[in-house]
Amino acid sequence: MSGMPEVTLRDQTLEKILPEDAFSRMDEMDDRVFYEKDRFVEHLDSLALSTVEKITGDLIVEESPVILDLMAGWDSHIPPRVRPSRVVGLGLNANELEENKALTEVVLHDLNANPRLPFDENTFDVVLNTVSVDYMTRPYDVFRDVARILKPGGLFLVLFSNRMFPQKAVKLWKESGEKDRITLVEDFFRASHAFEKPKVFLSKGRPRPGDDKYAHLGIPSDPVYAVYGEKRAEEGMKKSRPELHVAACGEMAGGNLQARMKTIKDNLCCPHCGQRMKKWAVPQSPFCTWDAEFMYICFHDECPYLQRGWEVMGKQGNMGLSYRFMYDPVRDASLTVPVPTLDALKESIVEEGDEF
Ligand SMILES: C[S@@+](CC[C@H](N)C(=O)[O-])C[C@H]1O[C@@H](n2cnc3c(N)ncnc32)[C@H](O)[C@@H]1O
Repeated sequence: MSGMPEVTLRDQTLEKILPEDAFSRMDEMDDRVFYEKDRFVEHLDSLALSTVEKITGDLIVEESPVILDLMAGWDSHIPPRVRPSRVVGLGLNANELEENKALTEVVLHDLNANPRLPFDENTFDVVLNTVSVDYMTRPYDVFRDVARILKPGGLFLVLFSNRMFPQKAVKLWKESGEKDRITLVEDFFRASHAFEKPKVFLSKGRPRPGDDKYAHLGIPSDPVYAVYGEKRAEEGMKKSRPELHVAACGEMAGGNLQARMKTIKDNLCCPHCGQRMKKWAVPQSPFCTWDAEFMYICFHDECPYLQRGWEVMGKQGNMGLSYRFMYDPVRDASLTVPVPTLDALKESIVEEGDEF
């Protein structure tokens, strides 16, 4: 990547060595003018938005959290399971913030003009920043100030994707690839010396929803990257947050089948359709020759492997049968399991629900 210098020392951060124009933008017009225009749009496709909401809900473990949505728009992506006592939305467009049903308070504040946040220290349990970190021109100052206003043990969750307003995204972001963007956000955390080591989670390569306006382009669903960290705290004040599941399902658009096969053991995603496979209890029967207790099977009914299977099996004289892709985690082996109907085998699924 062109703009990103190499850092070798463990605790060194990029802050002082980035090029001077790293956080410059094509459009340096006052942000308040740019964001005066209402944009009641979805910034990601529906699957990616549901992932954003799921991650947000999974990581907020506080009972009645006080939340700041930093760089908020008309939707804060907080699932109904979370019952905040207060949600402050800080952003630049008054109409969008007024329409945001999650917010209990609205603050108009230009972070790039003044990265000092207008809140007392130790105010918030959670600070969210969704698809907006690429517009921060002074991210190191902002992350330091987020640490100031978070309570000890509080969560700062930064979520981003690969879409942007190019005229307002900073140069370094635009010139960076996915790995460098993650490294950069981790560096914003690290440079503050106020957070625990940030964690990273990504969800990418999943099939784009059929009703999405870009579905015809054959591109996967918008990727979702989460980099999140907790403000350092004494032992008793630390929160126990769940580990997020590994989500990367490989690049369905670019990667070939063999490459995707190699990643199954890490992501448990079907190499044919990119959907996460389901854990399946192997029947306890003397006729069953598999000695594993569990297998992983792709139960996606539109998986091309299954769909082709009806025809292939028919040509072999096995009319009315197809097969699903199955993975044996003990032997790290890819297998095929025959099915007479779409519902066959589903009764032994042991993990249901919306998985990444
Ligand atoms: C792509 S939108 C994302 C909105 C929202 N977080 C979401 O997930 O839908 C970017 C948001 O960042 C806010 N924003 C951009 N520049 C800002 C600045 N300098 N200070 C404060 N907010 C800013 C805008 O008001 C806008 O709502």
